[in-house]
Amino acid sequence: MNKPENSILVIFGATGDLTKRKLIPGIFALEIQNLLPDNFAILGASRSKKSDDEFRKLMRDSLIKYSNSADSKKIDTFLKKICYQSVDAKDPNDYPNLLERLQKLRKELSINGNTIFYLSTPPSLYGVIPQNLSSINLNKEDDGWKRVIIEKPFGYDLQSAEELNKSLNKNWQEHQLYRIDHYLGKETVQNLLVTRFSNGIFEPLWNRNYVHHVEITSAESIGVEKRGGYYESSGALRDMIQNHLLQIVGFIAMEPPSSMDSNSIRNEMVKVFQSIRPIKEDEVINSAIRGQYLAATIKGEKVSGYREEEGVDPNSKTETFAALKFYIDNWRWGGIPFYIRTGKHLPTKVTEAVIHFKPTPHYLFVQKDICEGCNQLVIRIQPDEGILLKFGMKVPGAGFEVQNVNMDFHYSDLSDQRIPTAYERLLHDCMLGDSTLYARDDAVMAAWKFLEPVINAWQNDPDIPVYGYPAGTWGPENADKLIEDPTMTWRYPCKNLSDDGVFCEL
Ligand code: BG6
Repeated sequence: MNKPENSILVIFGATGDLTKRKLIPGIFALEIQNLLPDNFAILGASRSKKSDDEFRKLMRDSLIKYSNSADSKKIDTFLKKICYQSVDAKDPNDYPNLLERLQKLRKELSINGNTIFYLSTPPSLYGVIPQNLSSINLNKEDDGWKRVIIEKPFGYDLQSAEELNKSLNKNWQEHQLYRIDHYLGKETVQNLLVTRFSNGIFEPLWNRNYVHHVEITSAESIGVEKRGGYYESSGALRDMIQNHLLQIVGFIAMEPPSSMDSNSIRNEMVKVFQSIRPIKEDEVINSAIRGQYLAATIKGEKVSGYREEEGVDPNSKTETFAALKFYIDNWRWGGIPFYIRTGKHLPTKVTEAVIHFKPTPHYLFVQKDICEGCNQLVIRIQPDEGILLKFGMKVPGAGFEVQNVNMDFHYSDLSDQRIPTAYERLLHDCMLGDSTLYARDDAVMAAWKFLEPVINAWQNDPDIPVYGYPAGTWGPENADKLIEDPTMTWRYPCKNLSDDGVFCEL
C-alpha cells in the first residue's frame, strides 16, 4: 500500500470523544502497519489549556482503552508524534498561534505545508474554522496541499447544507473538502462494489427483472446515551438515514462506474440519489414511519424511555426510529421498492442489506412458508461481517418438500485478515488525496433534497404520529405496514428482547 507524503494532521475537537475513541486509535493502527508518512505529526487543537505531555497522557489512556494493540513500546513511540495547541476555534485571534506552532513543527520535522484539518467539533463550527484558517492563508496550497475533513452532519437540512457549502466554497476548493461518512470507510460497504462488479453471477440478476425488493437495516441496541442534547436536534432521519443508509443505497443501486477513480464512482452515486422518486408531503404518512423508544425492562434491567434521557425534552417528538419506503426511477430499478430503517434501542446491533429476489412464478413444490421460500442475499455489514445466500433445498426423504438453507461466508473465517476500522481507512485515504470514499457536495445536497418533504411533514403535520415502541423491540408495528406485499415482512435477525434473553437467527 502507498505511503502518504509527509504531512501534519490538525485535529480540532482534540479532547472530544471521537478523537479518543476513533481518530487516535485509527491513526495508531496506521502507524503499526507502517502506513503513516515518514515524517508526520498530529497537532491536537482544543479550547482547554494543556501541555503536550498532558494531552499525550490523555491519548495514551484512550489507546489503552480503545486500540486493539496495547503494546506499550509502540504506544510510546507513537505518542512522540502527538502535540497540543490550545485554540478557541471561534476566535480568529487564536489562529496566528496555531500557524506559528505549525511552522515550528514543519521546521523541526522537515515537512512542507501539507496539512489536514480534521473538524471533530460541534457542527456549528464547520463553517467558522475553515473561514478562520483561510484568514491566515492556511487554505493556500503553494507550500503544500491543504485538506479539511468535515464530520457529519453536513447541514441540518437542504438550506443549511447549501449555506455551509457556499461558505466553504468561498475560500476552499472542492478537491480540498473531505465530507466524511464513516459508513463509506467500512470494509463491508466497499465490498458491495466488489461483490457486484467482480462477480459475473450477481450482476445479471441485480435489477427489476429479478429483484422483488431491497431492504436495508441499521439497528442499534443502545439508546442515545449521553448524546441526548445532540440527538434532540437531529433524530434518526438526519443522524443515520440522510448519510449512512443512503450511502449504502447508493452502492447497492449504482450503475457500474467507468473506472475506479473517485469521480466515476461519485458520479454514479449522485445519479442514484437524483433518481429517487421524491416523496410528496402528503404521501409521507404512508411512506415514512417514525417512532420513539419507551421505557422497558431488558434482561431484568430497567431501561429509560427516550423522553427520560438526559438533555431530552420530556415532550420531545424527535424520532429514535425511522423507516422509509421509496422507489428509484431508472431503468434498472423502476417499480422495485426499497425499504430502509434504523433505530436506537432495537434488539441487537446489526447493519445489513438484503436483496430479496422474486419468487418462482409458480410453486411446484410444497413450501412451508412462502416468504421463507424467497431467495435472499443478505449482506451483513456489521457485526459478524459476511454474506449469506438463502435458498430452497429439498428436504431429504419422500416427496418434494422444500426448506430454506444458508450458504454463509463470515469475514472472521479469513483468520489472517484483520478488518481495518472505517476511520483508519478514511484517514489514510485523505492523506493520499483519495476522496472516493468521501461524500461529494452534489450527493449530500441530493440526499437532503430527497428527505426535505419528510422532514417538513414530520415537523409540520400534527396528524403524523410518533409511535412509541418499547426499548428492545423492532420499533413500531406500523413499520411492517410499509412492506407492500402481504406475504412479506422485514427480516428480523434477532427476535424482540425479553426477560428470556435474546434469540437470534441467521
Ligand atoms: C453515527 C451516529 O454517525 O453513527 C450515531 O451519529 C450512531 O448515532 C453511529 O450510533 C453508528 O455507527 P456504527 O459504525 O456504530 O454503526
